[in-house]
Amino acid sequence: KKLINVAIDGTSSSGKSTMAKALAKYAGYTYIDTGAMYRAVTLYCLQHGYIKDGKVDVQRLVAALGDIKISFKLDGGVQHTCLNGVDVEKEIRGLEVSNNVSPVAAVPQVRHELVRQQQELGRGKGVVMDGRDIGTTVLPDAEIKIYVTSSPEVRARRRYREMLTKGETGVTLDEVVANVRMRDHIDSTRAESPLRKAEGACELDSTPMSADEQNQWMIDYFKHWM
Ligand code: C5P
Repeated sequence: KKLINVAIDGTSSSGKSTMAKALAKYAGYTYIDTGAMYRAVTLYCLQHGYIKDGKVDVQRLVAALGDIKISFKLDGGVQHTCLNGVDVEKEIRGLEVSNNVSPVAAVPQVRHELVRQQQELGRGKGVVMDGRDIGTTVLPDAEIKIYVTSSPEVRARRRYREMLTKGETGVTLDEVVANVRMRDHIDSTRAESPLRKAEGACELDSTPMSADEQNQWMIDYFKHWM
């Protein structure tokens, strides 16, 4: 069986992870959620008091990087993220982590370490990885590169619904819209591997598409490529 790597990048809540998971399932590939890794590092920072009023204590974070071990485990067929062996899947999807993750992800030493781990995971091929810098930095040799965009309102509504179904209540749609816009801004203007469409990437605007349509598009693209 021919194995390739698939890199899916794009703005927050553009449906990247849903289509990446659908493709991984179809192809029998491994799905790697790189955003979950940045979220887990952010949760560690919050737990250890490295973030005060949105400002990250970079020195303490960098000194602690060796103590932060991120892994994935399957729970009833669903991938859960673990931080130092503890399942943190629910915590990392909350608004507190969402509001603090982009400044943490802008720290160059954090990126270097996580990119190194992600490249290790992609070495054997047969991986679908989603994030912001997969096609440009993590897996520049990926055979398929997709860049997904979608209008901020549609994306915020999607993220909001997802949070409600995951039991994250007490959040308003306006807060989620503000968070999506803020992350887009920080992610695309940071100095270290900012969000960019990779050279040769296929651009998909998912604004008018349902999740099913988007997943099917991805699977069709993959089938056609193979
Ligand atoms: O994909 P998700 O929205 O869960 O990612 C959370 C945050 O992690 C992004 O807003 C971005 O700041 C950061 N991130 C990144 N590079 C990646 C994946 C995520 O900087 N490859």
